[in-house]
Amino acid sequence: MASPLDDKIEKMVTALKGAVPSVDRVSLRDLREEDIPHLRRYWFDSPPEYLEAMGVDPKKLPPQEKFEIGLLEKCRGPSSKLNALIILFDDHPVGFHTINPLVEDDYGIFHAHIWDSQFRRKGIASISYPKACWIFFRRFGLKRILFKTPTQNTGSIRVKEKLGIRYIGDETVGFGIVKDGTLAKVFELTREESDFLIEQMEHPEVDLNQIQRNLSLSVDERLYEHQKALNLALDLQEAGKKMREQSQ
Ligand SMILES: CC(C)(COP(=O)(O)OP(=O)(O)OC[C@H]1O[C@@H](n2cnc3c(N)ncnc32)[C@H](O)[C@@H]1OP(=O)(O)O)[C@@H](O)C(=O)NCCC(=O)NCCS
Repeated sequence: MASPLDDKIEKMVTALKGAVPSVDRVSLRDLREEDIPHLRRYWFDSPPEYLEAMGVDPKKLPPQEKFEIGLLEKCRGPSSKLNALIILFDDHPVGFHTINPLVEDDYGIFHAHIWDSQFRRKGIASISYPKACWIFFRRFGLKRILFKTPTQNTGSIRVKEKLGIRYIGDETVGFGIVKDGTLAKVFELTREESDFLIEQMEHPEVDLNQIQRNLSLSVDERLYEHQKALNLALDLQEAGKKMREQSQ
């Protein structure tokens, strides 16, 4: 017999079909002890092929007990040091974001996992990525967030492309539980760009393309753009002056 929770989940999944969730239905909160069984099942009960398809080397996973103790310590430590956030859809936990490796006041590598497959490809990550990055930037004083996505993970690559996160090149990686020698696409997000993503999400009616283009320019290119605009304004002013002189 289906439990009330199963019924609730089925209703949520049905309601999501074909509809893009509104920004406020996807939220984030800090990892709690009650989430640990979800994470344990995700990493230790998923078929090895699932993990390998994501570029994970199952042999690099720590022993289960050590994994759980590590998470417990994180939950009991201060929130200011916690690098794991739970993704909620209508207040129901569906996945997590982590940032690791992490160098405080500098950069971190971002990860995303929706553990309940029923909630994948429903538009949730398109909202949770910007929200989680916003939190991590402030919590750890980061200058940039990197995404190193194995090239075979087309779904995860598509999320970054859809959000317009800057692709900066390919790299062979093997950090953490990622299989050594994995070819990854690297994307980068600055704090300024992260704020832009939030603006874009919360105010989709405003055309922010020009702002995004400006953010992607180097300082020299921005100066050149300003100079061009200034020259144009001066030319127009001069032309107006000449016309007035001729008409007198
Ligand atoms: C990758 C993941 C976090 C994306 O989250 P999501 O909520 O499913 O993503 P969204 O629904 O917001 O999708 C955003 C875009 O990516 C596309 N996309 C998502 N998953 C996809 C997949 N498996 N294959 C192809 N495209 C995919 C969506 O179609 C959408 O693009 P569109 O609007 O042009 O159609 C999620 O699917 C997941 O947890 N996957 C398993 C774990 C994983 O691979 N994590 C990344 C490790 S690097």
